[in-house]
Amino acid sequence: MGIPCAVLAFCIAIAFLLLSPRGVYGRSHFHKGKQSHRGRSGGRTMESQVGSPSVPPTADTSTVISPPSDEGSDSCIFDVRSFGAVGDGSTDDTEAFRSAWKAACEVESATLLVPADGVFMLTSTIFSGPCQPGLVFQVDGVIMPPDGPNCWPKKDSKRQWLVFYELEGMTLGGEGTVEGNGEEWWKLPSFAFRPPFQGPNGSTLPGTCDSPALIRFFMSCNVTVRDLRIENSPQFHIKFDGCEGVHIEGLSINSPAFSPNTDGVHIENTRSVAIYNSMISNGDDCISIGPGCADVDIQNVTCGPGHGIRYWNYHREIPSSILSGTANLGENCWNSIGSLGMHNSQACVSNVTVRNAVIRNSDNGVRIKTWQGGMGAVSGISFDTVYMENVRNCIIIDQYYCSNKGVCSNQSSAVYVSGVSYSNIKGTYDVRSPPVHFACSDTLPCTNITMVEVELLPHEGELVDNPFCWNAYGAMQTATIPPIDCLQDGQPEALREMPNLGC
Ligand SMILES: *[C@@H]1O[C@H](CO)[C@@H](O)[C@H](O)[C@H]1NC(C)=O
Ligand SMILES: *[C@@H]1O[C@H](CO)[C@@H](O)[C@H](O)[C@H]1NC(C)=O
Ligand SMILES: *[C@@H]1O[C@H](CO)[C@@H](O)[C@H](O)[C@H]1NC(C)=O
Ligand SMILES: *[C@@H]1O[C@H](CO)[C@@H](O)[C@H](O)[C@H]1NC(C)=O
Ligand SMILES: *[C@@H]1O[C@H](CO)[C@@H](O)[C@H](O)[C@H]1NC(C)=O
Ligand SMILES: *[C@@H]1O[C@H](CO)[C@@H](O)[C@H](O)[C@H]1NC(C)=O
Repeated sequence: MGIPCAVLAFCIAIAFLLLSPRGVYGRSHFHKGKQSHRGRSGGRTMESQVGSPSVPPTADTSTVISPPSDEGSDSCIFDVRSFGAVGDGSTDDTEAFRSAWKAACEVESATLLVPADGVFMLTSTIFSGPCQPGLVFQVDGVIMPPDGPNCWPKKDSKRQWLVFYELEGMTLGGEGTVEGNGEEWWKLPSFAFRPPFQGPNGSTLPGTCDSPALIRFFMSCNVTVRDLRIENSPQFHIKFDGCEGVHIEGLSINSPAFSPNTDGVHIENTRSVAIYNSMISNGDDCISIGPGCADVDIQNVTCGPGHGIRYWNYHREIPSSILSGTANLGENCWNSIGSLGMHNSQACVSNVTVRNAVIRNSDNGVRIKTWQGGMGAVSGISFDTVYMENVRNCIIIDQYYCSNKGVCSNQSSAVYVSGVSYSNIKGTYDVRSPPVHFACSDTLPCTNITMVEVELLPHEGELVDNPFCWNAYGAMQTATIPPIDCLQDGQPEALREMPNLGC
């Protein structure tokens, strides 16, 4: 079995998740590896691509062009209603959107407009480029997928809803809402990652993890997502893979605390990412960062409220079929993600900064997690000025991450974690877990952990367990509250000979 090698997740209620090239049956949010992720061929499995420039707009998609916008005489507005969209909340407007996209894609500085007074229902669609520069997909009204798995067209991918593919310099924005209609999906039986109350009579039967990510940018560069409200996603709200240059600004993401796998923003194999001034409350990680990411800047992000503290308690109940090994892992979302064939294929993450974040009522604060095994490195991670309120594992590095204890075996290889700084981390923690927990690999200890101005107090009650360190090296540059006396000085013996990290 292609047993997992390394998953690495930093969670800052922002979590970074790293998978090894050979894959992981990590979190149910990891997609099946059915798609080829290499270049154009990635489109092979994508049904119904639209907007390829080699296909000129058909005659009936008359290039109806509404008056130019104020912003510039060159820009043109392509209102989806001009292409036949109804926007009554029940008519399938997919074809109209495809036609509008095709037309807008051909014109420089075009805006595809979703007008404010409509609710547009679309089925799973791939908006593909390349397109002329300056394209804006402007959502001022509401767009939404069909309501749950029973309404999802059989021919459509259940892994994704709207995909933006091979685009350069595109903006997705607007004053409107992307409504995910996730409720029916959340009730699907699934692996351990769904709380038992989601299943019939509180069960967590193994089942499909085929719930769609709401918005996906794939193989694109210099993309901006701004101002939108994105809510109730069946699974991840917005994800980026194989992208370079991502700017997120002023986003608001909302789902209930009990909604499973509804990570807010997920990135993997993506570089140069800025996530600014956004609010995320959901049922899983606020921001998760997977393998192959570098140069990520996160500022002014508020996570929670809404991360149910109890959620992770439920998480820990493992279905007996997994414990007994009878669950068919291969058929579910534990599958390998495969190497994307661009950037790093190892579990490498570097240069990530999180500044001015607020994390409330969450199970994890800033987290780095890796599976045992695999190779790669996590380095140059800085958490600066993070305010925590009633957070269970405020600061955590877990290199023994295993979501189902019967399946993970001990392995000698590991992802190397080094250069992690925590500065000005203040607030309150849930006393059921120690606020600081560094569990590093036996073979590759964590090194160069620095802590400055860490002050964490019990939210209520008294501290039960002291801060925990295992194979963690680094220094406290100021005294911490609570005191942490378990970080070791200097460099570990084990690292005299550095293994090949492959990064
Ligand atoms: C749920 O429990 C009730 C009462 O114990 C039982 O009658 C019902 O059949 C159960 N439903 C399922 C789906 O197991
Ligand atoms: C992204 O935009 C920057 C500046 O606008 C430009 O220098 C860079 O070449 C662009 N990157 C790509 C891959 O197009
Ligand atoms: C780290 O990432 C930031 C962007 O987030 C970038 O400006 C900076 O140059 C990167 N630093 C290094 C050393 O690559
Ligand atoms: C973060 O918020 C501060 C204070 O509101 C503001 O000065 C700063 O520009 C913001 N950062 C970004 C990247 O927008
Ligand atoms: C892994 O190692 C730990 C500690 O050495 C041990 O308690 C545990 O039983 C081992 N697990 C397996 C699956 O070998
Ligand atoms: C330790 O980590 C910091 C970043 O947290 C980095 O600037 C520094 O160079 C690292 N030092 C060593 C010796 O690796």
